Order: sequence, then C-alpha cells, then structure tokens
Amino acid sequence: MVASPPQRITIQTVRAYKQTGKRFAMLTAYDFLTATAFDRAGVPLLLVGDTLGIFVQGHDTTLPVTMDAMMYHCEIVARAAKQALVVGDLPFGTYHTLEAGIQNAATLVKSTGVQAVKVEGRQDDLIQRLTQLGVPVMGHLGLTPQSVHQLGGNKVQARTVEAAEQLLQDALTLERAGIFALVLEAVPTAVAQEVTAALTIPTIGIGAGPHCDGQVLVAADLLGLHDGHSPKFAKRYAHLQPQIATAAEQFIEEVDRGLYPSPDHSYDWTLK
Ligand code: KIV
Repeated sequence: MVASPPQRITIQTVRAYKQTGKRFAMLTAYDFLTATAFDRAGVPLLLVGDTLGIFVQGHDTTLPVTMDAMMYHCEIVARAAKQALVVGDLPFGTYHTLEAGIQNAATLVKSTGVQAVKVEGRQDDLIQRLTQLGVPVMGHLGLTPQSVHQLGGNKVQARTVEAAEQLLQDALTLERAGIFALVLEAVPTAVAQEVTAALTIPTIGIGAGPHCDGQVLVAADLLGLHDGHSPKFAKRYAHLQPQIATAAEQFIEEVDRGLYPSPDHSYDWTLK
C-alpha cells in the first residue's frame, strides 16, 4: 500500500483550531535539520522568526536582521517542512511604507515558499492589502521586539487597565484587518485571556499565560541551546548546550590521545 502524503497545515486548519478549542504549538526554526525534526514531530506551525538575529547571528536584538537573511532562512525551513505551515517574519525596517511591506512580503512568499508572513504592531493597512493580495498575515502585539527602543527594553506590556483596553482594541482592529492568528508576547495572563475570548481567530502566546489558543517558544529556549538569560516563561525541554560542549571536549581528548579514529572508524589499511 502506498502511504498517503502528510496533510499540509493551512491557515484554515489554524482557524479551525479556534473553533474546535484545540490548543496548538508553534516553534521557531531557522535551519534544515531542526525544522525537519520539528516537522516530523508534528509541530503544526514553524516560525522563521527574526529572533534569528539573536540565536543564529549573535546580535543583542532582532533589529539588524536583513531581508536577505530572512530570505535565506525562510527558504531552508520551507524546504524542510512537509506538513507544517511556515510563517516568515518581516524584519525591522522592511515594512516602513505600505509599498515596501507589500513588496517584501510578496517576495518572501514568492521566492522562499513560506505560506504566511508575520508583522509586528498596528499595520492595519498593510495587513488589509496583503490579505487582499492573497498573502496570509499573522499579527504580533504586546511586547513587539522590533520596538525595543521605543518600549524602553523587553518589558511586560499592558499592565494597566488603560493599556490592557488598548491592547484589546488593537487586537480587534487587526482581526478586522484580516490576520489569521495573533501572537501575544509578554502580557499578563488575564489580559491574554480577555483578548483570546474576544477574538474569533486564535491567539498564540509567549509569556502570555495558559489561556491563549496556542503557545510559541523560541527553539533555542526549548532545546536549551544557550546558557544565557531566559525569560520566566521560557521552559527548557532539553539541555543541549552542555551536551554539545561535552561531545566536543570528548572529541578533542580522543584526538589528543590518538584514540580517534579507531579501526572501527577507518577504512582498510590494505590495498587490493
Ligand atoms: O521572532 C520570533 O521568534 C518571534 C517569536 C518570539 C514569537 O516573533
């Protein structure tokens, strides 16, 4: 019997999660092997986040990420994903005008194979135009890291009644503009709960408590790939950084002692 190909996750699948009350996961991915592993594990949404500026390129913020870098990583992740819906971030400064945003979003979808883009903040006109043009858009409110300097740091947002009300109104406006899902980052649990209840599209929380429809983590936090500071919400499900260091140390030692390569890891010495 021929195995049927894996079912591709679409934005309709994601919208249906909200209607059926199914909680779902999203993970960031930037490279082929990690994206393949997450896709095979059944992660329905992969985000090629501009956090690649921090976790791939070693910057302090997401601001230096270029369109070229995003194109490079989106193309790799889209090639790896057989099942997951792949969302590519529009980096800082690439949607500063409506024309630039349309051009860059269309290029990302056309040239890399991602199925959707994500933009931060109240990009109402851009979202409306892109969805009219057939480009699905994911929104992002709360802590929007591309505005780190405007916000005065990576701080929890919507902590007052007024700010929480504003966030709710912003979320409703983005929903009307056409987003298919909304990332809520670093907002109080009760605020995320209220926004989630008010929207007909799913919310995806990161540091937004358990009431969001979905949850997203950055791969480097999930896997314990760094030993830097992690925010409170970033649960580590593995601790790969020390394992990688241990493997490298063992390799150094075995080379030093002449133990590697052993006969098991060498081709025959004799010539025919
Ligand atoms: O860029 C990113 O990885 C993100 C997530 C933190 C949601 O936007």
